[in-house]
Amino acid sequence: MNQLVETQIREAVGQVADNDLGFTLAELNAISNIQLSDNAINVYLELIPPVHWVAQTIDQRVKQAVAAIAPGSQITVFVREKEVPRLANAGVLPNVSQLIAVASGKGGVGKSTIAANLAAALAQKGARVGLLDADIYGPSQPTMFGMADEQMRAEKTEDGRVLGFPNEQYGVKVASIGFVMERDQAAIMRGPMLAGYFTTLVEQIAWGELDFLVFDLPPGTGDIQLTLTQKIPLTGAVMVTTPQEISLADVRRSISMFRKVNVDILGVIENMSYFIPPDMPEKRYDIFGRGGGKMAALQANVPFLGEVPLTLGTRSGGDEGMPVVLNPDDFSQGQLLREITASVVSQVRKVNLKKMEQPVVQITL
Ligand SMILES: Nc1ncnc2c1ncn2[C@@H]1O[C@H](COP(=O)(O)OP(=O)(O)OP(=O)(O)O)[C@@H](O)[C@H]1O
Ligand SMILES: [Mg+2]
Repeated sequence: MNQLVETQIREAVGQVADNDLGFTLAELNAISNIQLSDNAINVYLELIPPVHWVAQTIDQRVKQAVAAIAPGSQITVFVREKEVPRLANAGVLPNVSQLIAVASGKGGVGKSTIAANLAAALAQKGARVGLLDADIYGPSQPTMFGMADEQMRAEKTEDGRVLGFPNEQYGVKVASIGFVMERDQAAIMRGPMLAGYFTTLVEQIAWGELDFLVFDLPPGTGDIQLTLTQKIPLTGAVMVTTPQEISLADVRRSISMFRKVNVDILGVIENMSYFIPPDMPEKRYDIFGRGGGKMAALQANVPFLGEVPLTLGTRSGGDEGMPVVLNPDDFSQGQLLREITASVVSQVRKVNLKKMEQPVVQITL
């Protein structure tokens, strides 16, 4: 095969679209190499991370495009992730690719439930996932992952630091203050002390290499949220709300806090959107009102990521220690949460693309 064929292949592969980003592979400068031998063609791509949701589709489309030019050849597509520059706190958690905060203005709207399901759905897709329960007042994740009785294993390193090892369940590495102290102990601690514990929790956990680290935040805009946004190179934040009008003001406050510290908002998830009785599937009850999440997203000019209905299985999954996305008996709720997870990942890729287009300026806070 010759130079002409290679040029044709490069052009055809270049026309393949990366649908999340709305650009072709040529526009994204994603083709790093094309190798031709007698009857084998290797295409090397560098895509905007994370690639877990797009790699397969792009692999198929590239193979089709190449096969149209060189029928009968053995085509292999190699996908790597591009390196996304960090604009601040580059040295913190350097082995973690995407750092996603799950936040809300109001308490009890389902942050921990969404964070648990997001983490589990990411792991289900084959990503390396960590979940940091940043709610030091009332940690939920040990219960939500069925590890309420577990302790955290800790070791002293050679330079005298203490390193904690997250507990793993369903392919998710979970760290929580709940593995370190009794529930009631955390409740009596004061703000600055809590922020100190939180920093320890972040800095002294041996996460290893992760594609995603999900932070389950306590409600509001207090010390923990500020510490997190100032010290950690967050990729973005997902806001959780319920549909009520009164939640709107809380979401707005929370969004503006993240914006003030330059954290991208990945979008708004509306939880507890409606209830469909399993024995009367034709009925729908808007228990907490309707449309608040979409409205909040529209007003703040951020993506709306979807509505999550109230289901018994979601609640019992949380209490019994298995996120509902992993429960085959509640497939439709699981499917919905997987689609929302895919939308979150798609937004992460857009944020990463934007970062790659910006000039790199190192800012250390
Ligand atoms: N879609 C849902 N369907 C049914 N129950 C749900 C749903 N989402 C959350 N819940 C339940 O609502 C309760 C509160 O949820 P969760 O603990 O996730 O909220 P939170 O926002 O993390 O609360 P906090 O502000 O206290 O951290 C839990 O019992 C949970 O199981
Ligand atoms: Mg919570």
